[in-house]
Amino acid sequence: MPPVIFAHRGSSGTYAEHTRAAYLQALADGAEGVECDVHLTRDGQLVCIHDTTLERTTDGSGDVADRTLAELRMLDVCSWKGVGIPAGYGDAAHQLLALSDLLVLLRESGRPIKLAIELKHPSPFGLRLEEALIAFLMDEGWDPESSMLGLVEVSFMSFNPDSMLQLAESVPHHVLCQLVADVSPQEVRDALSFGSIAEGALIAIMQRALKEGEELIDRQEIGIAGPSLQYVRDHPERIQRWIHDGVRVRAWTVNTEEDARFLAGLGVQEFTTDYPARIRLAFEGN
Ligand code: G3P
Ligand code: CA
Repeated sequence: MPPVIFAHRGSSGTYAEHTRAAYLQALADGAEGVECDVHLTRDGQLVCIHDTTLERTTDGSGDVADRTLAELRMLDVCSWKGVGIPAGYGDAAHQLLALSDLLVLLRESGRPIKLAIELKHPSPFGLRLEEALIAFLMDEGWDPESSMLGLVEVSFMSFNPDSMLQLAESVPHHVLCQLVADVSPQEVRDALSFGSIAEGALIAIMQRALKEGEELIDRQEIGIAGPSLQYVRDHPERIQRWIHDGVRVRAWTVNTEEDARFLAGLGVQEFTTDYPARIRLAFEGN
């Protein structure tokens, strides 16, 4: 079986991440799924954006959590990428997407699609992020047994094991994806922006989260392991053991054919990529 391909933040190699253009391109590229990072706004809305702050991907500044959805919609989330948006995408093409907007876009495609939602932590709202997401999905008509919302299959990802355990109370095991990666400097910087904790102490906390996440996967309390490509390179035998034990493996972010073939050789079933069309090509005819 060729791997299941998720477009990471949409086809974010082609268009600005988390935009209408990136997600429409993902559908055009034939991705079976799309990945999306979510944060909560000041007024409790779920929005599709990776960073806790606005500087990198918008023309605004400050924290996402300090703004309302209406304020965030005033920002341009496309131009930073330096890639024009195709004509005909409408006036909203440069606006940030709420999760509800993304759901409309996916449902309008009229075809089965997998939606992998990453709950971004540390969040200043703590695990209220998980509560808000479940409440939102229930309102939309999501089925908590199958995790289907019409033709959209929702899965849930986080680096934070507490997020997984909280979600496990409402979400079936086969759509829970514990992300694992060795602690990166960027994660430390992101986490430090929420408190005055010393860097050494923070690294210790994040390493503990990694260990607890690995234990959740080992005990098969969650159904999907989400390792970084580097983590797979560092621990190929562990990855193969997880697959042997019946855990699905969703690796990120796989952007070259060479890496895709390496992962497929280990038996990895799901890839997250910025370039779905390129990665599909690697498996054409298989
Ligand atoms: O798919 C998981 C991956 O997206 C996690 O890392 O930083 O791209 O959200 P990041
Ligand atoms: Ca992500």
